[in-house]
Amino acid sequence: MTNETFRALVVEEVNEEIQAGVKACTLEDLSAGDTLIKTSYSGINYKDALATIKNGGVIRSYPMIPGVDAVGEVMETTSDSFKKGDKVVITGNGLGVSHTGGFSEIVRIPNEWVVKLPEGLTEKEAATIGTAGITAVESINELERNGLSDKKARILVTGATGGVGSIAIAMLKSLGYENITALSRKKNEDFLYALGATKVISLDEFMPEKIKPLQKQEYDFVLDTIGGKVLSAILPQINYGGAITLCGNASGIKLETTVLPFILRGIKMLGVDSVQLPNEKKEAIWERIANELDKERLSTIGAVEEPIDRIEEIVTHLLEGTHSGRTLIKM
Ligand SMILES: NC(=O)c1ccc[n+]([C@@H]2O[C@H](COP(=O)([O-])OP(=O)(O)OC[C@H]3O[C@@H](n4cnc5c(N)ncnc54)[C@H](OP(=O)(O)O)[C@@H]3O)[C@@H](O)[C@H]2O)c1
Repeated sequence: MTNETFRALVVEEVNEEIQAGVKACTLEDLSAGDTLIKTSYSGINYKDALATIKNGGVIRSYPMIPGVDAVGEVMETTSDSFKKGDKVVITGNGLGVSHTGGFSEIVRIPNEWVVKLPEGLTEKEAATIGTAGITAVESINELERNGLSDKKARILVTGATGGVGSIAIAMLKSLGYENITALSRKKNEDFLYALGATKVISLDEFMPEKIKPLQKQEYDFVLDTIGGKVLSAILPQINYGGAITLCGNASGIKLETTVLPFILRGIKMLGVDSVQLPNEKKEAIWERIANELDKERLSTIGAVEEPIDRIEEIVTHLLEGTHSGRTLIKM
């Protein structure tokens, strides 16, 4: 295999500018590892979009192959836990950031990053879920560890048409939660109701003219994917004893708030990271997804399959916030 070429999206720094393009690569172009995988799918995430632009804050050393997710079949491995021919899924760690990633027909990674595709999920379903789904389900787990159990709890999901938001809504509904409000900038109500939302609010409708330290307690639990000013407007609206998870910053990294929702209403703000989660936790999340996510709801996301040559066009939509659901690169 050493001399064969395969295709990958390579991001390079040329004259202090960042250029991305599909190139013929060999194994020499891949980071070191003990397992070689023939990629079948890689999902496109917001982070991958940032990886292709200047000052995106994702890649520090060029050239790099982005792609924080990969699904495929083991070609070669030194592991005792899985073997040639096994279907596997990889999310996070350094993939597509400091280690050549999933936008490549061949991926080489350390054994410890490999998770076997759980029974009950196809490769395409696993790719649809990807890092976005792991983050969504870890956020739900974190809310449940912090009090969410009542199926009638009022739950708000932000960035609702995005990868994390849409899978979070599908999973919450699959778990039996009955009161899910989707907050979205897009007029995509049919999609959000089909996923499982019971109410859809636009960002214009949601944002108050002035954010007060405490407002009417509208939500018991919140799964936030966008941060920024929207997050500042949510905290004063969380019910006594409620909790909110934060995983993303599509609306900004700055958070302006007061201590009042925390000290007068005892609310909890919980950070979620799915990238460095230990593999045992990732495996448990994949099992939960395989067993509890309603596959018909997942198919509502309608993951679109695209060839590797279209990545640059798709990341532009992600960066502009005009992209919905999940787009998969089919290798
Ligand atoms: N912590 C972790 O481990 C982890 C893992 C994965 C992802 N993330 C982060 O989670 C966030 C969501 O990821 P994703 O893959 O779901 O991204 P995505 O598919 O691009 O979705 C983000 C959604 O946020 C909304 N949005 C985008 N720009 C916005 C803006 N300027 N103001 C308000 N809303 C905006 C849009 O939804 P609507 O149009 O429906 O409002 C968009 O679809 C990203 O920030 C990502 O980096 C974190």
